[in-house]
Amino acid sequence: MLKGKTIVVTGAASGIGERTAELLAERGAEVISVDIHQPPRPVGRVVTADLSDKASIDRLVEALPAGLHGLANIAGLPPTRPAQAVVAVNLVGLKYLTTRLVPKLADGASIVNLASLAGLGWADPAAKAAIDASAELDFGDVAAFCAKYGIEGARSYFFSKEALIVWTMRNRWTWRARGIRMNAVSPGPVQTPILKDFLETLGARAEEDMRTMDRPGRPQDIAPVVAFLLSDDSAWIRGTNVPVDGGMYSNVLCQMHGF
Ligand code: NAI
Repeated sequence: MLKGKTIVVTGAASGIGERTAELLAERGAEVISVDIHQPPRPVGRVVTADLSDKASIDRLVEALPAGLHGLANIAGLPPTRPAQAVVAVNLVGLKYLTTRLVPKLADGASIVNLASLAGLGWADPAAKAAIDASAELDFGDVAAFCAKYGIEGARSYFFSKEALIVWTMRNRWTWRARGIRMNAVSPGPVQTPILKDFLETLGARAEEDMRTMDRPGRPQDIAPVVAFLLSDDSAWIRGTNVPVDGGMYSNVLCQMHGF
């Protein structure tokens, strides 16, 4: 299924990205692992890059081969980090890497973005102005953008994921002529080094969520879904957001709509 495919995985040094890189390699893909840190158990070729830095992304794109079959955008910062850094890595850097890399993707390639259950508010009218304004957001403008739209503290994380889900949907057909498609995966709370950051930030709400859930997710719950979206088995899935959260999204929707 993934044999013969060369796939770039960002965030490959930890958590969901690390498990995804391992699984793709187990299933026969050539993996190129990208992270700001050296992976403790490197999978495939490793390229170090800082995805909050335009020049670093340019160097990464130069270093990558042409004819790539997949890009898994998994690197991300949690809500405890400075708002500007969160927006730069989770949104601006991800979008810049993706658009810069498209010319090096093979026809029929698949792009998968790690969003989050935290992005479920993307359709809230209150979020729309900032999401719209982020369409052309560049690295140098992040500080002014965050100030203008009141994106501070943990809001940066929610905003970055809302905007990422919308960007994924908006680009459902951008590269359709070449068969290149893009989808998002939205996990609920997953047991990785950043879970404690979420619990810290969300406080009582996170505790309530954790009580509702039977268990937190594990990287091995998420990686196979990313692998499926990277495979040709999902060829007609385009521009969508797949929740992988033990039922949490359905739970929120039922509560929201009174079912
Ligand atoms: P993690 O902290 O275990 O892994 C994130 C990886 O991204 C790390 O290896 C880190 O070095 C890398 N990274 C961070 N900044 C970078 C930069 N500037 N340049 C290059 N690499 C950078 O986190 P986890 O949990 O595996 O998260 C992966 C993705 O899943 C993130 O996008 C996160 O927002 C998302 N997610 C995580 C959830 C969770 O509960 N753990 C829930 C929903 C979504």
